[in-house]
Amino acid sequence: MDAETFVQRYRVERRNTDSLKWDALGERFGNPDLLPLWVADTEFRAPEAVLDALTARVRHGAFGYATVPDSYFEAFDAWAAARGQARVRRERVRFGTGVVSSFYWMISAFTEPGDAVLLTTPVYYPMHSAVRDTGRRLVTSELVRDGAGEYGFDLDGFERAVVDGGVRLWIACSPHNPVGRVWTEDELDAVLGICARHDVLVVADEIHQDILPGTRPFIAMSEVAGGRHRDRVITLSAVSKTFNLAGLVHSHIVIHDEGLRARYDSWARAYVQTEPNILGLTAAEAAWRGGADWLDGFTELLRVNDAGFRARVREVAPTALMPTLEGTYLLWLDLRDYVRPADMRSFLQDTCGLAVDYGEWFSPQAKGFVRFNLATTPAILSQGVEQLVNGLSGLA
Ligand SMILES: Cc1ncc(COP(=O)(O)O)c(C=O)c1O
Repeated sequence: MDAETFVQRYRVERRNTDSLKWDALGERFGNPDLLPLWVADTEFRAPEAVLDALTARVRHGAFGYATVPDSYFEAFDAWAAARGQARVRRERVRFGTGVVSSFYWMISAFTEPGDAVLLTTPVYYPMHSAVRDTGRRLVTSELVRDGAGEYGFDLDGFERAVVDGGVRLWIACSPHNPVGRVWTEDELDAVLGICARHDVLVVADEIHQDILPGTRPFIAMSEVAGGRHRDRVITLSAVSKTFNLAGLVHSHIVIHDEGLRARYDSWARAYVQTEPNILGLTAAEAAWRGGADWLDGFTELLRVNDAGFRARVREVAPTALMPTLEGTYLLWLDLRDYVRPADMRSFLQDTCGLAVDYGEWFSPQAKGFVRFNLATTPAILSQGVEQLVNGLSGLA
């Protein structure tokens, strides 16, 4: 499906529908009239297969406790097999109420208050909150950026942070929000090797694994080097980011190692007595069965939006670096050559009328960077980029 067909078929008005992205602008940014290019949420309806399955479930009318049918795991496995993703035995899967809440659960199950948890920053800010809110010690290793604006791990810095900080657990992000990297097998093998040397447990947030507008193939951390590191990896994933289903709060926690699984189950018995959400189960199975064309169209749209956004920004801000968008639908832009970091908020909100995610939310060192959400219609995105370009043009 091409981008235009995708937009025509699936575009939906989100304003005045209790959407965090559109209807919480006053509360979150102090101005309800900003154009929202922030939070990772889209203007698109889920695939027909999902709507049909949810409609049938709603029409049936009973929302009692669910059991997870074999067909759910068959659909999950078929999707993974078709996309070259990790094939997971069902007994290794636990259900979560979203990936963010699973950060809290993993930290609580596998570390003690005061233990050190590592983040490779800049990274998704709820990870920072999860470490702080649970009373753990936040240790960071900053990614390194080359002259073209592309990011990589700082292997020496990573190992130093692990050793000096006494790190017990690393929450990894792959593909990486906000810098858009799809890590290579060699890169992952190197960092996982460091984790193995120092006995660091790895919680791998792979929620963006289906969203690959670039050319680099995704490899799950559990599969790196023939599965050599699998037993220290806990994978968090969901189809919610892919198909705009986040409000259904349904996700997977995959624990490969039997001992870790037993430890989690024992912790969960005391703290997490949640049943899986019947609508989340229904939507995920339907998405795996009938969402492939939708995802092709969505990915095409992201390519079009990414190319258009970059080209227009480069016309007025040629030295504003943007790393290649390999994965995710989030574009990371360094505006420090044009706007003083201290003035960034007033520039973007008051001058440009935009709601975005600010760099310092992802790392204190990233003040002056901005994250834009490209998963919207080309019309909304060009309105946003014109507001940005007009603001930049007016600076001279
Ligand atoms: C890296 C990453 N993890 C997790 C989430 C949210 O996951 P959930 O909605 O399942 O809590 C997001 C949402 O943007 C994300 O980018």
